[in-house]
Amino acid sequence: MAQSRTQERPALRGELAAHAAELLRRFGAGQAAARTFFAPGRVNLLGAHLDYNRGPVLPMAVDRGTFVAMRPRRDARVRLASTVQSGEVTIDLGGPLSERTETWVDYPVGVLRELMRAGRMGCGLDVLFGGNLPIGAGLSSSASICVGTAYALDRMWNLGMSAAERVSLALESERGFVGVQCGIMDPFAVGLARANSLLWLDCKDESYEHVPFPSERIAIAVADSGVRRELARGEFNQRVTECRRALEGLSPHAPSATCLRDVSMDQFEVGKFGLTEVLRRRAQHVIEEVERTFEAKRMLERGDLLAFGAQLTRCHRSLRDLYEVSTPELDLLVEAAGREESVLGSRLTGAGFGGCTVILLRRSEGPLGHAAALERIADAFSARFGRRPATWVFGPDSGPREIEVEGVAGGPAAGFPSAYLAPN
Ligand code: GLA
Repeated sequence: MAQSRTQERPALRGELAAHAAELLRRFGAGQAAARTFFAPGRVNLLGAHLDYNRGPVLPMAVDRGTFVAMRPRRDARVRLASTVQSGEVTIDLGGPLSERTETWVDYPVGVLRELMRAGRMGCGLDVLFGGNLPIGAGLSSSASICVGTAYALDRMWNLGMSAAERVSLALESERGFVGVQCGIMDPFAVGLARANSLLWLDCKDESYEHVPFPSERIAIAVADSGVRRELARGEFNQRVTECRRALEGLSPHAPSATCLRDVSMDQFEVGKFGLTEVLRRRAQHVIEEVERTFEAKRMLERGDLLAFGAQLTRCHRSLRDLYEVSTPELDLLVEAAGREESVLGSRLTGAGFGGCTVILLRRSEGPLGHAAALERIADAFSARFGRRPATWVFGPDSGPREIEVEGVAGGPAAGFPSAYLAPN
């Protein structure tokens, strides 16, 4: 259901109106009105590299994400384009399933493909993606586009899916069609977000709860190191493999453990001598991070924000020294943030190897205080690397939704087929 007008930030509504207008410009005015959807990105605060080790994670959806404009077509084709990446694709809903292209379209096409396979389709569509989230920067642009596609198709085709179904559809697309061995955190964080809350997700049994986030006391900033590593997917998959090997090496000392999360610190202390130096470091990060994440939840619940912030910075050190997924640029951003009075804590967000850091700021400093702190962090970065990093203050977000916008040309969708039936 579309949200009531007053709940949306005017800027977001304006951006989506411009996005719908762009769909009409690219694909022609057409007959039917475009509908607009938004899906957030996320920052993960604690539980770094724990999802595929089946530990707890604590991400938060942010108010930057993917825009999706969709409009029905009279034929059975789905045309997909983007305002932020090149390449356009047209899919025939009655035709064969698409092959992988190794471009951005694989993310939404993976979702569409799953629905086509299940025979859950509606009319043809013109689809335009866009957004205001840096891509490939650790803010989960891929889960945002996958969940956003699932949400918008569900609404356009009246499929009646639950939030959990949309999350698993997004996950199937990314793991199956796109081929990244990602954990479950990102689509859950995007698809199950609730206003002013963090998501506490236990990746072992997929149980979750929404933990109130004190937005009146903490602001969330993000600094982009500007580093994008093409190798990141390979390095990520390597960490997944290393964790599996570490578990194998430790299992004689932890016979009932089915994942690294199950291994206790005592078992690790005994078993670590059988591991290579690298595997020892990876396992130590995971086992300590599990404990850190449980502690962080307790700190948040008792309102100890100083301690909560310090957990993030500890998490970063562990990612730097034990998990070895940081870069000099990310380390400098975290160190510079650590010198600021108004900063409670900071760490790289996402998988690492580049991308962004997340910075927790005390609300009491106000927007001017935040801007000054971010400016000094950017100064320190540019003194070392000769360029300024982009920085933003993000708000929390309530998850995927349809947002009605004014002034989108095109008549009502009456007369358009509500469902496309594949020929026998
Ligand atoms: C990436 C993956 C997530 C998670 C994080 C690290 O963002 O997509 O599933 O593993 O890295 O915490």
